Amino acid sequence: MMADAPKTQKFSRLPEHIAIVPDGNGRWAEQRGLPRLSGHQSGTDNMRHIVKYLNEYPIKYVTLYGFSTENWNRPKAEVTGLFKLLEAFIGRTAPEIHRAGIKLRHLGRLNELPKSLQLAITDAIELTKNNSGMTLSVAFNYGARTEILDAVRRLIAEGVPPEKINEETFGNYLYTAGLPDVDLLIRTGCEFRLSNFLLWQTTYSEYHFTEVLWPDFGEKDIDKALLSYGRRHRRFGGL
Ligand code: IPE
Ligand code: MG
Repeated sequence: MMADAPKTQKFSRLPEHIAIVPDGNGRWAEQRGLPRLSGHQSGTDNMRHIVKYLNEYPIKYVTLYGFSTENWNRPKAEVTGLFKLLEAFIGRTAPEIHRAGIKLRHLGRLNELPKSLQLAITDAIELTKNNSGMTLSVAFNYGARTEILDAVRRLIAEGVPPEKINEETFGNYLYTAGLPDVDLLIRTGCEFRLSNFLLWQTTYSEYHFTEVLWPDFGEKDIDKALLSYGRRHRRFGGL
């Protein structure tokens, strides 16, 4: 979708790649006396909404943390419920993002996810593979340490000589091969940590933390994060 000029004029500079850690679904539900899974339901609904909103901006890459390698430690019912919701999210989002020219990618270990979720993801990737608009990456069963280990294993398995390994070649062995580093990382839900998300790709990211719980995180909150990003001086270790 073409970004309309007045909308982007508010910002001196927009990030090329935004990564989001949508946190606080459980607390959102608990505050309302609802089961945690209904918080996740509202959370996945909000993901669809925020993706649509971000696509109104000329932002090329959006990456969402949906399920971490550590989330397997949650009660089985929550894990299975989450997978069902993520599958519904992909199923409902696929035609919408396709119409909007968005391309889907998956980051993480796909083959450990339930078969039907794997299929929903691979179908959506196939459907949107020729789109040239925004790239939406969904990190489901993603862990940054696993990502780095998987890269090292492949480098060794392929017999890549040590002197050929530099930041660029290593980056090409990560799940995020071809994606630029993260410019802006947003985490909702009043937690101030990275939680094994995109370690390699966020070394010089700007961070935006907010106490707003993910299901409540709306368009105004996105704009606040973008405004704050526009005011930062990024020096990448220089002056
Ligand atoms: C984030 O919400 C969603 C996932 C981790 C899948 P939480 O489930 O972590 O919500 P809180 O932190 O318990 O409120
Ligand atoms: Mg949490």
